[in-house]
Amino acid sequence: MENINDYLCKYKGYVFARGETTAEYIDSLQHFEIRDSDIFLVTYPKSGTIWAQNIISLICQDDFKETKYANNLELMPWLEYREGRPDYSLRPSPRLFATHLTPTLMPPGLKNKKAKIVYVIRNPKDNAASYFHFSHVWAKLEKPKSFEDFLQQYLSGNVGGSSWFDHVREWYSKKDQYNILFLRYEDMIMDLRTAVEKICRFFGKSLDDAAISHVVEKATFKNMKQDPKANYSFIPEDLLLQQQFMRKGTIGDWKNLFTVAQSEMFDQIYNERMKNIPLDFIWDLDSKTN
Ligand code: PPS
Repeated sequence: MENINDYLCKYKGYVFARGETTAEYIDSLQHFEIRDSDIFLVTYPKSGTIWAQNIISLICQDDFKETKYANNLELMPWLEYREGRPDYSLRPSPRLFATHLTPTLMPPGLKNKKAKIVYVIRNPKDNAASYFHFSHVWAKLEKPKSFEDFLQQYLSGNVGGSSWFDHVREWYSKKDQYNILFLRYEDMIMDLRTAVEKICRFFGKSLDDAAISHVVEKATFKNMKQDPKANYSFIPEDLLLQQQFMRKGTIGDWKNLFTVAQSEMFDQIYNERMKNIPLDFIWDLDSKTN
């Protein structure tokens, strides 16, 4: 891995936080055997990963009656961070994984189109705002001097997870190669029940109304924030300086950070870089356009 600075390194064009994985381990994913029953949750960082992780865990909870996991991270480990985790080839099915990786680094066996991928996408202004706040509380990230500094890093893809634009473009443009369900964070905020129903249909799970209501209830921001299995409060304090994995959980919080000039500059870059990608976003609760 090539070091970029004290916090970040690059491998095969993708930016990792330093010390979290190795080139050998990432390469080994090219031989990772996929099972038809595997489920992968893929996101760019700060797009609602732990939220979707909780929803998927709740939808699949009957599959894990025999095996008790201490928390959602144990139940759905991060694919790219192997450290301290058991050999996944020994793990009973169904296996659930979360990842921020791009298609090129993912196990090629996913292209057999049987294993399922849920991709959660969030409007990049809120995504950048969430990432900026998270940089202040996650010990392994550089503390930005200002939001302007962070925004420049974010736009140039010099953050863990690389560029939001590349991540979304790559997954979206290769979507036909995979068995993939795209979900927008903003749709989940506005109508969680419909999002849960969509995931159930995609998984081929027929939960009754009461079971769906249970998932929705457990996955609300308020309830998840109090759920130690789901809210990542189990992360040690030397790594997570404040328990801020669940910060605001809303749409449009970017307006509290971006200046008008920053927002206009962002829109221009967005329009250039997302040209030909027919995705639209909800940027705030009052309007559906940027
Ligand atoms: S990470 O570090 O990449 O795993 O972060 P990630 O989980 O992808 O994203 C964190 C943001 O998701 C918000 N979140 C939620 N929003 C709504 N409802 C629920 N239940 C929920 N759970 C997590 C979390 O608050 C982060 O967004 P911000 O804008 O910072 O609040």
